[in-house]
Amino acid sequence: MTASWTLAVVIGSVREGRIGHSVARWFVDQLRCGEHTDVRVDLIDLAALDLPQDLSGGGDTPELAERIGRADAVVIVTPEYNRGYPGPLKSAIDAVASPWAAKPVGFVAYGGVSGGLRAVEQLRPVFAELHAVTVQAVVALPHAWDSLDADGALHAPRAGSAAAAMLRQLRWWAHALQDARTASPYRA
Ligand SMILES: Cc1cc2nc3c(=O)[nH]c(=O)nc-3n(C[C@H](O)[C@H](O)[C@H](O)COP(=O)(O)O)c2cc1C
Repeated sequence: MTASWTLAVVIGSVREGRIGHSVARWFVDQLRCGEHTDVRVDLIDLAALDLPQDLSGGGDTPELAERIGRADAVVIVTPEYNRGYPGPLKSAIDAVASPWAAKPVGFVAYGGVSGGLRAVEQLRPVFAELHAVTVQAVVALPHAWDSLDADGALHAPRAGSAAAAMLRQLRWWAHALQDARTASPYRA
């Protein structure tokens, strides 16, 4: 458990005026405290990438597939839209395909009163289909827009312990699956 690990943090909202990048920045800041000195973060902003048209296995999104492939764990930062998650996020997940297999996935969700939890519950079976392992702990931020300061920075001290729990779980799975994939390539 001493090797370093790479955590990809995916900003799942791409709309103009989104607050997803503020939520992602807050989450990445949580890594600066505590025991996570051995993690490398790759912040993936779907809005900065060409969204896939071909969903047959990473064909037209090699960059996204490569970055997920390099990650030992992934956190999806997702808002809730009409009790679900954003359509572009689904296209991105589908297009990446096989690099999800045997990778742990956690969620930082935000929305109205539900804190984005209904989006998370829809994402869990999607990742099960892709042979990823979703961790139990989740960060949910109800009415996140009320916690932004004038510079757009999110302040959510009460969510810090949930982020810490999720990171502990992700770290355990990241190392366990890193070792397992090295010992024997995962076959569906
Ligand atoms: C099209 C749309 C649908 C939404 N539906 C829900 C919803 O069902 N439940 C909820 O809690 N919030 C809902 N919201 C509120 C969003 O979760 C909130 O605006 C959030 O900040 C959106 O993330 P973004 O700013 O990163 O795009 C909705 C927002 C939009 C734009």
